[in-house]
Amino acid sequence: MYNGGKIILGLAVFAGLVTFPFLYNIGQADRQPDLKLDTPVIRQMAVKHCVEPKAFMRAEHMQLLNDWRNEALRQGNREYVSSTGEKYNISLQNTCLHCHSNKKKFCDECHNYMAVHPYCFDCHLQPKENVQ
Ligand code: HEC
Ligand code: HEC
Ligand code: HEC
Repeated sequence: MYNGGKIILGLAVFAGLVTFPFLYNIGQADRQPDLKLDTPVIRQMAVKHCVEPKAFMRAEHMQLLNDWRNEALRQGNREYVSSTGEKYNISLQNTCLHCHSNKKKFCDECHNYMAVHPYCFDCHLQPKENVQ
């Protein structure tokens, strides 16, 4: 059965989760996260772009990574075709962190600011060198 109540509750919880990091940081709004895209791989791109448009990545990268994990581990599919038709290897380490090899100055910079602590790197390797 279609359960509208549950969906609305879900949306409210989602909205709360999404706005919480921002509200939480309102008192400290003077310091913006300083995201660096200056890595060897990104520097060499003629048109600097992510696997999907920036606004989508900013809002949806957690969901995208979740989908990637399900695709790779449940469906056995290791290839992602982006909305623009580009093909990427489904890999947190070899794709995301190949370009964003400066994890500390990019992923962590934003997560620390937002008070988010993804547990992925308990298992997944991260770049040894923190390229500036
Ligand atoms: C081919 C290189 C490349 C790959 C692979 C890549 N990114 Fe990106 N990413 C970029 C570039 C370049 C930008 C900046 C895009 C822009 O300014 O339009 C970016 C932007 C982003 C943003 C938005 C940052 C902001 O300022 O809002 C996030 C979040 C992000 N990437 C996460 C990821 C994740 C997670 C993955 C793996 C699923 C990934 N990226 C894979 C190059 C890459
Ligand atoms: C523009 C800021 C920003 C950047 C850059 C960014 N993240 Fe995030 N990330 C967030 C926010 C905010 C959340 C929490 C969202 C939520 O809980 O709905 C998050 C959540 C996540 C989660 C889900 C955590 C969980 O426990 O569910 C993963 C995984 C993640 N990010 C990986 C990455 C990786 C890998 C990179 C770098 C390639 C990256 N993020 C870069 C802001 C960012
Ligand atoms: C308990 C250990 C563990 C944790 C924690 C963990 N993973 Fe994984 N992950 C694995 C293992 C093992 C594989 C399978 C490796 C393979 O087959 O390539 C995997 C595979 C993946 C893949 C597909 C293959 C690849 O190389 O990336 C993605 C995407 C992924 N995980 C994302 C995540 C994200 C995002 C998080 C955090 C929200 C996370 N994982 C947390 C152990 C873990």
